[in-house]
Amino acid sequence: SSTEEPELRSPILCILGHVDTGKTSLLDKIRSTNVQGGEARGITQQIGASFIPVENIRDQAKDLAERLKFEFKLPGLLLIDTPGHESFNNLRSRGSGLCDLAILVIDIMHGLEAQTIESINLLRMRKTPFIVALNKVDRIYEWRPCRNVDIRESLKVQSRHAAQEFDSRVKDTVAQLAVQELNASLYWKNPDHRKYVSLVPTSAVTGEGIPDLMVLATQLMQKIMAEKVTYRDELQCTILEVKTIEGLGATVDAVLVNGVLSEGDKIVVSGFGAPIVSTIRSLLTPPPLRETRVKTQLIPNKSVKASMGVKIVAPGLEKAVPGTSLLVCTEDDDLEDLKAQAQSEIDSVLNDVETSGVGVSVQASTLGSLEAFISFLKKIKVPVANVAIGPIHKKNVMACSIMREKDPKYAIMLAFDVKIEESAQQAANDMKITIMSEDTIYLFEKRLEDHFNAIKE
Ligand code: GTP
Ligand code: MG
Ligand code: NA
Repeated sequence: SSTEEPELRSPILCILGHVDTGKTSLLDKIRSTNVQGGEARGITQQIGASFIPVENIRDQAKDLAERLKFEFKLPGLLLIDTPGHESFNNLRSRGSGLCDLAILVIDIMHGLEAQTIESINLLRMRKTPFIVALNKVDRIYEWRPCRNVDIRESLKVQSRHAAQEFDSRVKDTVAQLAVQELNASLYWKNPDHRKYVSLVPTSAVTGEGIPDLMVLATQLMQKIMAEKVTYRDELQCTILEVKTIEGLGATVDAVLVNGVLSEGDKIVVSGFGAPIVSTIRSLLTPPPLRETRVKTQLIPNKSVKASMGVKIVAPGLEKAVPGTSLLVCTEDDDLEDLKAQAQSEIDSVLNDVETSGVGVSVQASTLGSLEAFISFLKKIKVPVANVAIGPIHKKNVMACSIMREKDPKYAIMLAFDVKIEESAQQAANDMKITIMSEDTIYLFEKRLEDHFNAIKE
């Protein structure tokens, strides 16, 4: 027949969850790597992308896929690891804003924890579909490990006691998710993937449930979200991190969602201050099954096709705003139009403020974290008058000081995960402007409450 199936790209899967639930370990198991072992105190502090080719997934999920007669049609999965430590809200926000599907990792022995709930709220806010990996099943008392098998096979051989503990822990998690107003079900009992969140019991140590995780993620993308992963030529590329690297200069770690990037491409990027125009010097990718944040072994490419994690080397990128899009200026494009487009991406968030002009001043490190912060402040009904991305400069304090006349209780600056320049702190002291600085969104709630209460008294 002449009906050609559309070309599919690899879906972008973000791994989210509370600290030490096993996010990096699950990825390590899938990749056969040991990134977790190389991390300081075993804590992830960066966001990283790794490409898992379909051959590798087929191989790992062979038995399960055969039993389910499941056919892999996607070229692979692009997995994004995020930190679970409470300080890295900005990276969780950036990862969740970018992915097609999220894997929320919950420790079956602990149930829901603070950053589990935070992650659920982020995913909800962005309407990102997700599945749950109920990890560390091997820690259930008397659990008999069955290496790398799918979870239902493993459940068949468990003792009555282990099976009972498993059932009761699953029930507890389902109940805790219900408190968060989420319906959840073990994935093979899920009556409707649009209404119930699927739970996949896993172990990053024994590999149990990992075939299930990969089959389920692929299945959902192929069946329910095929349109989302249909490859498109139109470039879509998001900047995750900005780093200056010795020998390379300014680089950005980006996720190429759609389209092609090539060496020598003229690019336009949103910058702190003004849009940045530059030329791609080199495009580096990690080998398959490795990660962008691992320094060694990066491979130079003439061009890269979506979807893929790439490190882009280009002069002037040190002022790029993480969380924004990278644009390519072709011969047909008007450079000024693209610069305006890059600016407008930031402006839409920067302009999301009280029209009355009365409210607090807010600053965050990235576009994604600023969006999350503004949304949080709306929820707790704190009006916002001024917003900015990046470190607090004296001029930001000056802008805030206007509020002393308009409504003094709002003459405060909220610094979320950003540096405060010394001159800015000095100006704030001189003008008696309070700067509240936190690296976790939720810590602001109590501080704001205390601040407003103190003024009432
Ligand atoms: P952060 O990135 O710091 O948020 O942590 P993480 O979610 O990536 O967890 P990580 O992979 O660092 O694992 C934390 C600890 O749990 C390590 O000691 C792992 O060896 C252990 N661990 C992870 N998964 C499992 C599992 O399935 N079973 C058991 N028994 N231990 C696990
Ligand atoms: Mg980790
Ligand atoms: Na950890």
